[in-house]
This record gives sequence, C-alpha cells and structure tokens, in this order.
Amino acid sequence: MPAYFSWPLAASALLVLFIVSRVSKLIHNIKLSGGLPGWKIPFPPLGLPGAVLPTTWWNPGIRWTWTWRASAYKDLKSELIALVPFMVGQTTVYTNSIEIARQVVAGGVQSPWIKTEETSKGVIAWGINLISSEKETWRRHRRIMGPAFNATTYGLVWAETARVFRDMAAAEGWDAQNTVSVRAVQDYTFKLALLVISTCGFGWSFAWDEPPMNEDGTMGIQKALNVYTTNILLLVIAPEWAFKLPIAKLQEYYRARETLSEYMAKQIADRKDEIHGEVEGAAKRQDVFSLLVRANEDDGKLKLDDTTLGFLSIYPDIQKELYDEIVSVVGDREPMVEDFGKLEKVLASFCEAMRLYPAGYVMIREAIEDTVLNVPNEGGQPGTRPLPVQKGLRVVVDMVGVQYNPRYFPDPEKYDPTRWYGVSIESEALTAFSVGPRTCLGRKFAATEAVCFLTFLLRDWHVSPSLRPGETGEQWRARVMGTTFGLTLGVESVPVTLTRRRPLPV
Ligand code: HEM
Repeated sequence: MPAYFSWPLAASALLVLFIVSRVSKLIHNIKLSGGLPGWKIPFPPLGLPGAVLPTTWWNPGIRWTWTWRASAYKDLKSELIALVPFMVGQTTVYTNSIEIARQVVAGGVQSPWIKTEETSKGVIAWGINLISSEKETWRRHRRIMGPAFNATTYGLVWAETARVFRDMAAAEGWDAQNTVSVRAVQDYTFKLALLVISTCGFGWSFAWDEPPMNEDGTMGIQKALNVYTTNILLLVIAPEWAFKLPIAKLQEYYRARETLSEYMAKQIADRKDEIHGEVEGAAKRQDVFSLLVRANEDDGKLKLDDTTLGFLSIYPDIQKELYDEIVSVVGDREPMVEDFGKLEKVLASFCEAMRLYPAGYVMIREAIEDTVLNVPNEGGQPGTRPLPVQKGLRVVVDMVGVQYNPRYFPDPEKYDPTRWYGVSIESEALTAFSVGPRTCLGRKFAATEAVCFLTFLLRDWHVSPSLRPGETGEQWRARVMGTTFGLTLGVESVPVTLTRRRPLPV
C-alpha cells in the first residue's frame, strides 16, 4: 500500500463523492420537475425501498395517495405534485387532474407518453400483452382483444356468475341457514371473481369447493391463481433472485408462478391445436381465452364487490332502494343478463364503490421526448397554461386523487350512488376505468359480474355490518375499510352478517 494512503482519507473522499453525486442527482431531478410544487424525498413511492417503508413525513411510501388524499393537492394548491428523490430513482409528477390524465394516457399511438417496461413488470410476467404493450403492438392486441368483449361474453359472465353463486351458497351451507356470519366478504367475492374469469376468460372451469392442493401435494391451479394475483406486487418490487431465498411467502409465490406458467403453456399448446383444427369441436368454445392466448389479460383486478357490499351494509336505506329495484325488475324469476340495463341503482352502487376504491390506483407514463403539458388554471378557472416537460419525466395519474378531487365529485368522501344514476357503464365519466382509446376493456365484464352477484345476493339476503359491541356503522367503516395496496387497491377484510329475507320453513 503506498505510504500516502490513509483509510480515513479514502473514506472521506468516498463520502464527498457520494454527497456530490446525490446533490447532482437532486439538481437533475429538480430540473426535470419543471418548477412544480412538491416534496424532496429519499426514494420514489413506487420503487424499492420507498414502497415498502411506511408513509411518514420523510417517506411518502406507496400509500400516500390514500393517506393524504384530502390534504396533499389542497395544501400545495396544485393538481400536479413533483416528487423529487435524492437517493435513488427518478422524478415523478403525480396528478389528480383528469385533464392532465387525458393528455398522458389518451394520446393514441402518436403520443410522446408511453408505459415503460419497468412500470408494467407485474403484467408482462407472461409476455408482452395488451395492458403493457405500446404503439403498434398495443394496436394489434387491442384489435384482437376488443371483439372478444361482446354481448355473448357478457351473457357468459352473467350465467357463470349465477352458477358460481349457487355453487357457493350450496358448498358453504348457506342454503340451509337463515343467518350467515361472513368473516371477510372478499373471501367470497375474490374467489367468485377468480372462478368467473377462469371460465369466461380462460375456459378453465373449477368447482367452488375444489381443494387448494392436488393429491400429489403440488399446488392446485385455483390456489396458484389466488396466490399470484393477491401478491403480484412482489413481482414488481422484488428482484428475481429474492424468490430463491428461504422465505415461505416468496417461495409460495414462486411455486404459484411456476404452476401457472406451466399450466398456461399447456393451455396455449392445447388451444393452438384446437385452433388449427387438430382437436374436434374446438372452434365452438365461447370463452375469450382463444383470443387471450396471445395476451394474458388479467391484470389482477379480480376483486369486485367487497367494498360495494361494505357500503350497502352500513347504509341500509341505499340497500333497501336496491332491493326494491331488484324486486320490481326481477321479482321471483331467475335474474337474466337482459335485466342488466334495468338494474340502474345496482350498477350505480358498484360504480360509486369503484370511485371510492379505484382498483387501478395508478396509471404510469413516461415522456419519450421533450413535450408540453397544458395545465388547467387553478381553482377550475377556464383556460390552461403550458408546462414544458423534459424527456424522461414520469407522470403518475393518481386515481385515488382523481376520484376524490372535489372539482369532479363534491363531498368526495360520501358514498353517494345517485352520482351515477343514468350514467352508462361505457361512459367517460367513469374515470376509474381510465379514459380515451386505452380505457379499460373489461369494465362491462366487471360490471356485469358485480350486478349479477349483487342481484342474486340482495334479493335473498339482507346485509348488515358485523359490529363490535357499541360500534357505529361509521366506526365500522373506519375500522374495516382501510385499504390494501398491491398491484391493485382493495380492502382487507369486511365482516358482515347475512340475514335471509324470507326465513326457511321450519
Ligand atoms: C373493477 C375492476 C377494474 C378496474 C377498476 C379497471 C381499471 C382499469 C384501468 C384504470 C385501466 C387503464 C390502465 C392504464 O392505462 O395504465 C385498465 C386497463 C385494462 N383493463 Fe381493466 N379494470 C378492471 C377490471 C378489468 C377486468 C375484469 C378486465 C378483463 C376481463 C380488464 C381488462 C383490462 C384491459 C385489457 C386493459 C388494457 C386496455 C388497453 O391498454 O388498451 N379490466 N383497467
């Protein structure tokens, strides 16, 4: 070692270098932020380690859009907030403005704003698909997929939801009970949604009470789907090598992914044989999987009615209105897909729950060239001002922010389904499903399933919150309807009690 070398000196030099590099990163990131108001933070909320650290004054974390939904944009008096990291990651601008959202997500194939591979990691695990693809690839996927979402599909969704509902009621013993205590609504709604999409999207039909593990001890496909979709955020934030670590949750996730990949590969091979006419009767399949073969389109939004039921349980007046509508439209006969258009209040209750808990809670885009955003004037004043944007800037459309923006939804915290009376499920007003050419393709699929499920359930059962002694409905709401953040946003466990409207004969 040279005589002039000294460890303290080397360490100090490294420290100086580190500080200089962080300061220059900060300067670069501040420049990118274009002078917008916001926060200087160590890590971006959607990357590691920021996403897994709690939301607190020095780290917004993944939950900030929920926790600070009422204050963040209001306090900064801006519908654009720049989050400028100085340790790792890039500048991200969050917005709760649908006018800005339109410019970044709805620009079509010529748009300077794209989804990057990094941000779509969770959904491209099985190959580039419609949700994650861009430009010509997206156009091709959408052209293939679009027609698969049609009246026949919605008929199938309705029929399958009804079948699974009955299967569930029988398997869970509801048919023989007058009162059912449900520990967590989502134990049922999630599974129901999983079974419906398995059949309607993929052509895999499962029984409600199928065991989670196969006889040979390997993971069953239903369980694998469940594990994969509920923990998909792991895929986005954990590096590949982490799945080899002796951590039970990661290993279970790895097994679920392997099981699904193998199953998917086999399905694709079988389906190709069918499509090429090597298997008798193949073309007659009704499910959309033959089209989905090229593009696994489930993006994890499998939780549908858990929040809707939660709200209906604490607002009995609204539940009564829905019940009256169901009785007047359906009466005692079998509810049919043709009833969908008449069950306006049922649909509205679902749309309002989607607003308050937007499952797709962020839409992420990056500028691939220098461009300009037209920012609406403050306070809803008419007109816009141009905001020059540099290549590389990331914009996150904060869907919680949009849905709680009082400019669009007065008294945003209030569960008020009347906001959606007379609004079609295809309407652009339902911004929780995005806007423009890349709007959610599955919105009517999701709504058909939800309306069918609610119609079957509410016609026979009254839903009430399972309250703790002395607890009010609003206290129950605050306790149980906190959010979970995965690849999608949802609630943890909504305990309710179902009471049969017409008790069974003794
Ligand atoms: C409650 C449920 C759902 C909500 C709130 C929701 C919301 C969204 C949102 C916000 C996007 C835009 C994402 C972006 O551009 O970054 C999207 C895209 C998409 N959704 Fe959904 N979704 C739901 C259910 C479904 C279901 C059940 C399906 C399929 C059966 C589906 C299929 C799609 C597809 C294929 C796209 C990509 C469209 C494109 O890029 O052209 N969604 N969804």
